Amino acid sequence: MPEARQDDGGRGSRARVFFALWPDDESARRLHAQALQIRAECGGRAMRRETLHLTLAFLGEVARTDLERLRAVGDLVSGEPFRFVIDRVGGWAHNRIVWAGTSEPPQPLRALAQSLIGHLAAAGFPTEQRKFTPHVTLVRKAVHRCEARAIEGCGWDVGRFVLVESTLGAEGAHYRVIGEWQLRRTESGGIVPSGPQH
Ligand code: 2AM
Repeated sequence: MPEARQDDGGRGSRARVFFALWPDDESARRLHAQALQIRAECGGRAMRRETLHLTLAFLGEVARTDLERLRAVGDLVSGEPFRFVIDRVGGWAHNRIVWAGTSEPPQPLRALAQSLIGHLAAAGFPTEQRKFTPHVTLVRKAVHRCEARAIEGCGWDVGRFVLVESTLGAEGAHYRVIGEWQLRRTESGGIVPSGPQH
């Protein structure tokens, strides 16, 4: 996972940011192997291993002075840990990406995204109305269509979510984690606010 840092100095007055789930090393390795395999079939550009992620809420460009308020939103979000089973791949024609996803989105994932989007809206950060379709982009600019299909399932144990800044470089996007929160289960099985880790 990219190094978490808090200093935002020297990077201009605006930042392109999103909240995401970031895979552990082993899950990222498996996803990347899948990306290379599917690129051989569909063409295009495989995402680099260190850039693979699942977007929870995309903010786009915000003022850098708003980053603290975004971190405060992260502090309010409730969520419990869950297992994300990646058992499908497919392609979207409209943006030519090939993705990995799940046949059964776990309820805690939907609840986490809803909590986040709700707290963002309440804080004056509306996100897109687009339906939340959990996916990890594996390949961009695919040349051939990739039919959606089942693949051998692999589990990703999700225990945290992150706020990420994206900058565009010659070799694609570079991502930097600028906030991180643990998902926690209470002893009674209820959910508590995730709590900051930044
Ligand atoms: P994608 O992989 O499906 O393209 C950084 O750009 C992350 O934010 C990517 O995961 C990307 O999703 C997502 N993203 C970019 N633009 C977006 C938008 N307009 N709405 C939702 N997600 C977006």
